[in-house]
Amino acid sequence: MSNLILGIETSCDETAAAVVEGAQTVRSSVVSSQIDLHARFGGVVPEVASRAHLDLMIPVVAESLVSAGVEAPEVDAVAATTGPGLVGSLLVGVTAAKSLSLVWDVPFVSVNHLEAHLYASFLEEPDLEFPLVVLLVSGGHTMLVLMEGHGRYRVLGSTLDDAAGEAFDKVARYLGLEYPGGPAIDALAVEGDPNAFNYPRSLVQENPDTMAEDRKLAFSFSGLKTSVINHVRNNPDVSTADVVASFQEAVVDTLVTKAKWAAAITGAKGLCLGGGVAANSRLRERFLDMCIEIGVQPFIPSRSMCTDNAAMVAAAGWWCLQIDGSSPLNVGANPNWGLPERI
Ligand code: KG4
Ligand code: ZN
Repeated sequence: MSNLILGIETSCDETAAAVVEGAQTVRSSVVSSQIDLHARFGGVVPEVASRAHLDLMIPVVAESLVSAGVEAPEVDAVAATTGPGLVGSLLVGVTAAKSLSLVWDVPFVSVNHLEAHLYASFLEEPDLEFPLVVLLVSGGHTMLVLMEGHGRYRVLGSTLDDAAGEAFDKVARYLGLEYPGGPAIDALAVEGDPNAFNYPRSLVQENPDTMAEDRKLAFSFSGLKTSVINHVRNNPDVSTADVVASFQEAVVDTLVTKAKWAAAITGAKGLCLGGGVAANSRLRERFLDMCIEIGVQPFIPSRSMCTDNAAMVAAAGWWCLQIDGSSPLNVGANPNWGLPERI
């Protein structure tokens, strides 16, 4: 059985490589962030990102092998994120992974980035009990996923418009906060009053029993984003700390309420967080309180496991290899690939 997996992640602006043993033991995890390159543009510039991945790919892979104490021939398989993400960025990681698999004569495994985020928790807590609901909140996606077993999952609901991270980034950008917006709002919100302004909580203000099935576990953040921007436009002297604290509270309220509903609907034994927004301090605190209140086992990965990394890609790759076998080398980058539902 393939045990040592080299994972490669280049779906957005992090060039990452990791060596993971049997989907459990992280032997190394190297993440090279391009934040400084994109900061002056206020967001990720796809062309700049793919060129930086090209420069960083080989040194990052080399560092992951050296710090894992692994020689190239010991690697049993190479897994890479093939989507969703920025196509130029994905292509760099996918091409590197395929080349290494050919040169080393080991299997290549195509990994879905969202599936990788689901597997981040298992690296830190391998014995999580099923059925499990994962609240996956990143810059590009916001969804609730029911995991009934390894490789068996279904999307319960997702965002109808903006992802939660996108809303954080856009509000921060409007307010002139530094890039990336999520961590900047997280830090500034501590100084503000979360109840200063009552911003809208879309799709949670009704009684769930009377809501249409397809809206119960769906999310919507674009109305909230517009409402915050209009409020600040009409009240230029308002306290920025109060605005971001109240905005963050509205996002967190929505996410935590929907996760609670999902646990009740599915009878899940556990609730897990995943994705970059799961690094948010207020979300982590409120999510934990909610799990304790309803008596469901919580799991909140460390912050570095929430944001993009290649250890989660290697872990998901190990499971994909056990379940589906290796991927053909003609699998390409798929920028719009959704979470493969496998129930
Ligand atoms: O999962 P991720 O690293 O990349 C994607 O797959 O999108 O998530 C990045 C997103 C960004 O929108 C970023 O602003 C947000 O996660 N984020 C946060 C925090 N840290 C990262 N949002 C709120 N609070 C944070 N502490
Ligand atoms: Zn991600």
